[in-house]
Amino acid sequence: MTIALATALPFRDIDPDLPLLHAAAERRGLALETVLWDDPAVDWAGFDLVVVRSCWDYTDRREEFLDWAATVPRLANPVEVLRWNTDKTYLREVAAAGVPVIATQWDVRDGDPLAGDGEPDAEWVVKPSISAGSRDTARWSDPADVYRHSEELVARGRTSMTQRYVPSVDSDGETAMLFLGGHFSHAIRKAPLLERGEGVNDHRDSRGDITPRAPTAAQLEVAASTHDALRALFGPDLDLLYARIDLVTAPDGSPVVLEVELTEPSLFLPQSGGGEDVLLDAIEQRVRG
Ligand SMILES: Nc1ncnc2c1ncn2[C@@H]1O[C@H](COP(=O)(O)OP(=O)(O)O)[C@@H](O)[C@H]1O
Ligand SMILES: [Mg+2]
Repeated sequence: MTIALATALPFRDIDPDLPLLHAAAERRGLALETVLWDDPAVDWAGFDLVVVRSCWDYTDRREEFLDWAATVPRLANPVEVLRWNTDKTYLREVAAAGVPVIATQWDVRDGDPLAGDGEPDAEWVVKPSISAGSRDTARWSDPADVYRHSEELVARGRTSMTQRYVPSVDSDGETAMLFLGGHFSHAIRKAPLLERGEGVNDHRDSRGDITPRAPTAAQLEVAASTHDALRALFGPDLDLLYARIDLVTAPDGSPVVLEVELTEPSLFLPQSGGGEDVLLDAIEQRVRG
């Protein structure tokens, strides 16, 4: 059995999950190779499974990335999941399935009413629907900046998303809920990334400061209901090798979904207490059938 982990050249040596997976594979005698998704010399059919990992450069090359994914005979997660998940407009479908999702205004134009405008200390986040690592994303306190940023994105043919800045992120960070092989595995706290007054900054360390976190019952429930909603959206045969559901805490204390990561999420294995073996078990199980 030979398994491939697909990454991208700029990230191959800095994705902290990869060395743990290789060490665990070596312990169990599993052949595991890290390969570049855009390397034309790779024979993808030669692997029993290709697992998408740190392909974090897909945001500027989405069609190329999805075309590649469609050529890989055995890919996790499946290409139709990647297509759906690489554009955050999917959040509308997750919300329509009954999951609490962060309130979002789409393609805001100058003068549109902004949720929360007029409230003291109101702040907003503007981001494009196709993005990762907080690129082209900023936090604003002046509606004029919100309008300008959103209109700039739309003018470049992108879909813009405007959300209220969730203040609890500054104190409690966000909570990433990791599922491996279809089951909840671990949670982490991610420190806030957007500074007030910073504007767009495409050089943030988007992994930021990560620490293990014990999830609350409410967080577990929202994450599980999100994971279940995906099966309702894709059909009962959906098999997700990995999933990450990022939650923030709304002002009323309830968890809401900020992002569903089914494409190339950092799995935060160094903070997982053995998640690499859980993932390799799930891989071996799927290949054996
Ligand atoms: N509405 C929001 N309130 C507070 N922080 C936010 C909000 N939206 C995004 N952020 C911050 O920006 C980061 C990146 O946004 P996110 O929606 O996770 O997109 P991506 O990770 O795909 O770039 C988040 O990790 C969080 O720190
Ligand atoms: Mg994120």
